[in-house]
This record gives sequence, C-alpha cells and structure tokens, in this order.
Amino acid sequence: MRKLAITTTAVAAVALLALAGCSSRSADDSGSGDAKGFDKGSLIGVALPDKTSENWVLAGGLFKSAIEEAGFKADVQYAGQSTPVPDQQAQIASMSTKGAKVIIIGAKDGGQLGTQVKDAKAAGATVIAYDRILTDTKDIDYYVAFNNEKVGELQGQALLDGLKAKFPDKKSYNIELFSGDPGDANAPVFFQGAMKILQPKIDDGTLKVVSGQTDIKQTATKDWLAQNAQNRMDTILQGSYQSTELDGVLSPNDTLARAILTSVKSAGKPAIVVTGQDSEAASIPLIMSGEQYMTIYKDTRDLVKKAIEMTTQLSKGDKADTTTKTNNGSVDVPTFYLPPVVVTKDNAAEAYKNNPDLEKLTQQ
Ligand code: GAL
Repeated sequence: MRKLAITTTAVAAVALLALAGCSSRSADDSGSGDAKGFDKGSLIGVALPDKTSENWVLAGGLFKSAIEEAGFKADVQYAGQSTPVPDQQAQIASMSTKGAKVIIIGAKDGGQLGTQVKDAKAAGATVIAYDRILTDTKDIDYYVAFNNEKVGELQGQALLDGLKAKFPDKKSYNIELFSGDPGDANAPVFFQGAMKILQPKIDDGTLKVVSGQTDIKQTATKDWLAQNAQNRMDTILQGSYQSTELDGVLSPNDTLARAILTSVKSAGKPAIVVTGQDSEAASIPLIMSGEQYMTIYKDTRDLVKKAIEMTTQLSKGDKADTTTKTNNGSVDVPTFYLPPVVVTKDNAAEAYKNNPDLEKLTQQ
C-alpha cells in the first residue's frame, strides 16, 4: 500500500515535470565528476576573463601556485581586452587539445562557451565554472563562487543603512542604480539581489530613482569599465540632478564605485552613499575616510583554494564536495558557495584580519 503511494507520487511528479516542459536531470547525473580520477602531474587549465578588477588580477598567480602545490601542471590564461570572447574560446579549445583533466573557467561571457565546453567534455575534461556560471549549457560539472545573490542583498541593505545613517533627517532619498557587464552572468544576480531589498522601498516612496533608469538594460556597465560608469553618471547628473540632490548610488563593485565618486566630485556635488564589492586596495582608504560607504569581501585566496580542493578530489576519482545546486538555464549545476562578507569602516580592520595587505590599509 505504502509502496504504491510512493510510486503514484513519483509518477505524478514525473508527469508534472513533463507537463512543465522541464527536465529533472542535473549536471552530475551525466556521470561527470565520478570518473576514474587522474594522476599527479596532469594538466589543469584555467581560463580567466580580462583583468576587469583586482580579484581577477590576483586569481591568475594564485591559481598557478595552488595547482603546482597540489602536484599538477598549470596552464593559466587570461582573455585579452580587445577580443576577450574569441580569446577565451581559443584558450579553452587548446586546453582540451592538450589533454587538460580539469578546465576551470572564469567566463568573460558565460553564454558563449557552449561549443568549447562540449568539446572539453568530449575530450574527457571536467568543467568547473569559477566565480561566474556558464549559462545554457549542460556541459558544466561544477560551479564554485561566493553566493552572488547574497552579495546583491548585502549591497542593497547597506545602501539603505548608509542613507539612514548619513541623512538622519531625511524621510526619502534620491538614488541611482548601476549594474555590471551584460555578458557576466553574475551581473543580473547581483542586481536582482539588491533589488529584492530596494524595490519595496522604491514602491513605498522611500527611494526615488530620479533618472527613472531602473531596468538592467539601462543600468548595465559594458565590460565593467570604469569609464563607462563614469560617463553614465556624468550624463545622469547633467540630465536629472541640476537642481536636485543625489543621495546614494548602488554600485556593483569597487572599480565602478570609484568612477561614480569621481563623477560626483567633478560635478561639484556633495558627498553621497555608494556601495561596492571586491575589497580592492584602492577602495579601502575611501571606506576608512567615509567616501565609499561599503564593500564586500570575497577573499580570492579562498575561492582559488576551493577550486583546487575540488580538483584534487576529482583526481582521486571522487566527486567534488558541493553545498547546493544552481540552475544555469539548462541543468542544475552542483555548486559550492562561499559566504561573502559585508565591510564598512566599522568592521574593516576585523574583516581583513587574516589578510595583512588589506588590514594595513585600514590603519592609514
Ligand atoms: C564579477 C565578480 C566580481 C567582480 C566583477 C568585475 O563577476 O564576481 O567580484 O570582480 O566580476 O570583474
């Protein structure tokens, strides 16, 4: 009787899935990640995007040494700035040809590597998406990242907190919204995370986006380039803030936060509350002086270490440890999320205690 009930439920579930037109398949049902393992000395490929921010600059060197320390051979490549997508496609193809056992990818454009990861899988490599997920492909075995939605939520909440603290007498605030590069799968996730917190406050009138630009197509910053954010901020200040005060800006990372601050300063506007991400060395003094309200700490050393721990597990023929799954539009990808940490002037010294290079910047 009981067995029958379970069977009926299972049949109903399958029927429902079929009706919904979705598949219950997940990336690791394909048998990936539980292969025979591979020897020390094997080649591990790492394909990184162009060096848009300090975390990416750091990642290359960290990967090379972590891979070598773990006993493997490293092939670490960056995409160039002028043709990053084709660069990365060629680099991944070459890693597959050279017989890389694991290919770790920090995608410039996570939607444009489908052919390359398909070929990588066919050549016997395990594919790990690093920091940014690969979208709309089933040829992805694992994803390792800081929890991106959480990053956005922390930024949204911090913007609200910062506005209340800086302008205790105001009941409502004028803000503007920025997001990252449209090719980066993280950009919409950061933005949606932040909007989860900010949208209800826009709806109830606490926040006003004076430019009216709230759609991610309008807020995007092509290639995560500082100059693009600065130009957009200049234009918005010109068009919407001639006789209105700007109180705060949602910026998705530190590089763009500094560009936004430069724009606000050169327009002769008073100080604002601006968010950030990445704990870049150039932003930490600005956080200590109060010019940039907050950042997020995502220790690149931890993320690289985790990716190489996964690689070592795979080399032993084991599955890599994961904590959750992330749907990439095609499959549920086994995922390991690390927790992002929100940093303001108040906790900076404490937050960077394990990182002397950053900690010393909090003391100047
Ligand atoms: C994101 C990454 C951020 C930031 C940004 C700009 O994908 O998660 O930490 O670095 O790219 O390069």
